[in-house]
Amino acid sequence: MTKVLIKAARRLRNIVRPESITHRGMVIPAKYLRFGGTNFAHDESFLSSGEDEAIRLQREFGIHKGSAVLDIGCGPGRLPIGILSKIGELRAYRGIDVSDAPIEWCKKYIEKKYPTFQFLKINAKNERYNPTGTEQIKLPFTDQAFDIIYLYSVFSHMKTPDIKAYLSEFKRLLKPTGKVFLTAFTEEFVPDMEENPPNYKTGWKGALHCVRYEKNCFNKLISDHGFKVDKYEYGVETDGQSGFYLSLS
Ligand SMILES: C[S@@+](CC[C@H](N)C(=O)[O-])C[C@H]1O[C@@H](n2cnc3c(N)ncnc32)[C@H](O)[C@@H]1O
Repeated sequence: MTKVLIKAARRLRNIVRPESITHRGMVIPAKYLRFGGTNFAHDESFLSSGEDEAIRLQREFGIHKGSAVLDIGCGPGRLPIGILSKIGELRAYRGIDVSDAPIEWCKKYIEKKYPTFQFLKINAKNERYNPTGTEQIKLPFTDQAFDIIYLYSVFSHMKTPDIKAYLSEFKRLLKPTGKVFLTAFTEEFVPDMEENPPNYKTGWKGALHCVRYEKNCFNKLISDHGFKVDKYEYGVETDGQSGFYLSLS
């Protein structure tokens, strides 16, 4: 009886406040479930930005239907929706996040329909997104399981210990020919790491809204974990983040 009531309450909530929208034939999350402030508020900008990310992975890393992709901090599915729209189903896509709502949404609207796209919540602590988290950053995947690892606007909300933990995992999880794309705030002539730097780009509010790194210091984190930067694009990503294309050194 309770289960029936919960189901009915969920249905009612979804009528009053729908959790998904169909745009150009793709199911995307409602605005209130999206991250990225005004950047992805419009339905078209959410969908086309995800499609552009899929095209980036095709152009730069040669992603194809046989690829295995790990998307850390996947949020409510911008990349997988873009992949499904532009490339189609992959051999394996795994989306990881510390926030409950986006993972629940992705399981319900993506994983159910496309079972090779799977989503997992990990309970690692992030003061902004999951302040009560308790788990270590350790991912439940076998060594060399992935061709591509992707993180958009994720290291931009993380301090050094978490970045180190993830880079160690990436080295283990990536195939020898694998590639990583990530974005981060990096600048020259600034402190090694600074949270919410004043007078930098926009008004940052709350824990870990913007974590900025000194460029050489960030590059050293990358090289210390066995990666090299194949391509660096300064300031061209959301809110002025830089794009990093990595491979194993
Ligand atoms: C700004 S959103 C970006 C979402 C998505 N990558 C995109 O570009 O649309 C940052 C995401 O990183 C997730 N996140 C924060 N810390 C994390 C961690 N330690 N591990 C995995 N995900 C994390 C947040 O929950 C949030 O979904």
